[in-house]
Amino acid sequence: MSYNIAVDGPAGAGKSTIAKQVAKKKGIIYVDTGAMYRAMALFMIREKVDPTNQEAIIAKCDEADVTLGQEDGQQVVFLNGENVNGLIRTEAVGNMASTISVIGKVRENLVAKQQKLAETTDLIMDGRDIGTCVLPNANLKIYLTASSEVRAKRRYDELVAKGQECDLAQIKADIEERDYRDMHREISPLKQADDAILVDTSYMTIDEVVAKILELAE
Ligand code: DC
Repeated sequence: MSYNIAVDGPAGAGKSTIAKQVAKKKGIIYVDTGAMYRAMALFMIREKVDPTNQEAIIAKCDEADVTLGQEDGQQVVFLNGENVNGLIRTEAVGNMASTISVIGKVRENLVAKQQKLAETTDLIMDGRDIGTCVLPNANLKIYLTASSEVRAKRRYDELVAKGQECDLAQIKADIEERDYRDMHREISPLKQADDAILVDTSYMTIDEVVAKILELAE
């Protein structure tokens, strides 16, 4: 049996930063499932699919083969064989990912791949539905959250550090809209699993959160 940690939570709660460090400390793999939805979103943007047209998205999604690999201890996401890691971290792709992830057909395909990987691999996987749907029997489930003010500021600092121009109020509005959509969709909405442990990172440092999760894992 493989060892699995599930981490869920809203955008900007610190899931990927924390999960990467926990993975390193525990010698397990980090799997970012959001990257798979983002790669699918990138495909839809490139194909100029209207995000409000669910039929068109459903018709197109079989043409996008999204797979994961590992290079130098880092996750790589491939879209029809192309490494798209460098193309999926924009707000536009994130918003498109949130929009298309409400569709069952989009989720089914990606969830099956995530479950297959977790069956044979010791890993920490983050997303929105990992504890509730993808890995219901995970060894440890964490629900990581923070206030929308704190999350917007973190995302803002991240984008500024990358040299991208952005507006804090706009980011906060986008985050709140994305949270609403992720939490209220019909299929696998973002919510804390009954057996998940809530960790509010608003007033915690990264090191404190990592230490807390390692302690819970023990
Ligand atoms: O974690 P992220 O910001 O990269 O995720 C982008 C979007 O993908 C998110 O707003 C909702 C969707 N998503 C999902 O529905 N289920 C997951 N397990 C991961 C992401």
